[in-house]
Amino acid sequence: MVLDALIKIKNEIDSTLTFRRSCREGICGSCAMNIDGTNTLACTKPIKEIKGAVKIYPLPHLEVIKDLVPDLTHFYAQYAAIRPWLERQTPIPPDQEILQSKADRAKLDGLYECILCACCSTSCPSYWWNGDRYFGPAILLQAYRWLVDSRDEMTGERLDNLEDPFRLYRCHTIMNCTNTCPKGLNPAKAIIEIKQLLVQRR
Ligand code: SF4
Ligand code: SF4
Ligand code: FES
Repeated sequence: MVLDALIKIKNEIDSTLTFRRSCREGICGSCAMNIDGTNTLACTKPIKEIKGAVKIYPLPHLEVIKDLVPDLTHFYAQYAAIRPWLERQTPIPPDQEILQSKADRAKLDGLYECILCACCSTSCPSYWWNGDRYFGPAILLQAYRWLVDSRDEMTGERLDNLEDPFRLYRCHTIMNCTNTCPKGLNPAKAIIEIKQLLVQRR
């Protein structure tokens, strides 16, 4: 994998080379970078799939802290802004789980697998130009994950938080996000679903 080559370079050639990694199996999302022209995970990208020299850059259109490490501060602040945790008005009994039907649980498939690697958001032209205010595909997929969770009771407030000309409506369905996601997810579809929820409640 490309990550193995980076680790070899760091160990044997240039110990100053700086990059993020942790799990080395596509779970933590730390090693996201632009490899051979595509945003992907270095730990799951086989070198043999790349013809010629392997060109590696940090994720595009973010401030670079050092080498392959982009500054994700704003990205994480946007994530916090969607309140990514279960919110309820009815009190949760301390000795009881909040049950979900199999059908409701299935609505989270294709969403819960997101590892917040930011490959999609940093491949999105709208996020490049308006990322200060546009939430971008990763954060919107996460927002949708909480909107469709049958256990959450703050759907109205969550939709209010997204109904904004910049936060949601800068998506122009260019589909770069879905094409690049290393986990095979479809953030563009999640964004369309959010827009439909907003139409339905009018
Ligand atoms: S949707 Fe895919 S590309 Fe985007 S942050 Fe999640 S895992 Fe990464
Ligand atoms: S579909 Fe929307 S979020 Fe995805 S790359 Fe295009 S503009 Fe960005
Ligand atoms: S090191 Fe965790 S996703 Fe690559």
